[in-house]
Amino acid sequence: MNVPAIETIRQAGESLRAGQLVAFPTETVYGLGADATNADAVLSIYETKGRPRFNPLIVHCADLAMAERYGVFGPLARKLAQAFWPGPLTIVVPLAAGHGLADVTTAGLDTVGIRVPDHSIANALIRAADRPLAAPSANPSGKLSPTTALQVSEGFAGRVAVLDGGPCTSGVESTIVTVDGDTIVQLRAGALAREEIEALTGKTVVLAEKGAKISAPGMLLSHYAPNAAIRLNAIPEEGEAYLAFGSAVAHHGPTLNLSPSGDLREAARNLFAYLHQLDKAGASLIAVAPIPSTGLGEAINDRLSRAAAPRA
Ligand code: TXA
Ligand code: MG
Repeated sequence: MNVPAIETIRQAGESLRAGQLVAFPTETVYGLGADATNADAVLSIYETKGRPRFNPLIVHCADLAMAERYGVFGPLARKLAQAFWPGPLTIVVPLAAGHGLADVTTAGLDTVGIRVPDHSIANALIRAADRPLAAPSANPSGKLSPTTALQVSEGFAGRVAVLDGGPCTSGVESTIVTVDGDTIVQLRAGALAREEIEALTGKTVVLAEKGAKISAPGMLLSHYAPNAAIRLNAIPEEGEAYLAFGSAVAHHGPTLNLSPSGDLREAARNLFAYLHQLDKAGASLIAVAPIPSTGLGEAINDRLSRAAAPRA
């Protein structure tokens, strides 16, 4: 395995703390890492990948003690963590109080997917940054996940700093599970076989697609839906809440402006928090101003149209 010098990892940790992206090896695939507590840094992941929609990102920690600052691990989740970490298992757990993660990291959900990678460079980087790292696979959206540093540099035409740790040993993304009471639900098949989880726990692992409570169609689980109904490209009417963008029209109801100056990055940073706040204000309908679909606007509009889609 290639081993970057300790000084290289220390500097990469500094860049992460300063809000830069650093691609790093894990045992599964290379990740495009950002400080998970820094909304702007996490938004850069989307811009760099050209990812048209916000997915909740996996938060990479150095060990279970660090993971417990961000998520609440019940007995069964803890048992899985103790058995399979470090390793290719992501566990989705409720957010811990005072977690400090950016809203865009969890895409506005009240849960977080966490894993501890089984890779000395990843681990050293997390410790050097002294931050939890949000990291999807380090490839442009729609391209294959990279398993070498060269694929990462080629994919982003050298625009992203990469720590070279040689080829990934697994080459498939982590298995993702969540714990629902006494039941383990697999949300994504991956590098850890379901049978191994079953052997450890003596429980049958339920597939999310096949019907547990949280198995809503498609990716519904990972999509924040406000309680209020949403009207897109709208001018607010009497009795509605108003999620404005740019120059807002005058409105008497609860109003929040995603970005008075019309800055899409600022709007993306505020999106989930503002939807939550308008929900809390008790509105039954939120009118959302038109938002351009260029740049991060595509992800914002994707999220809004999902939030506006008819509910089951
Ligand atoms: O092996 C891996 O897991 C790689 C390496 C870099 O660690 N990372 C990776 O990240 O595959 P990504 O962004 O492709 O996977 C994130 C997925 C989301 O699309 C979603 O399915 C799931 O993880 N996820 C994350 N947080 C979640 C949450 N709170 N609830 C439900 N699903 C969540
Ligand atoms: Mg990916």
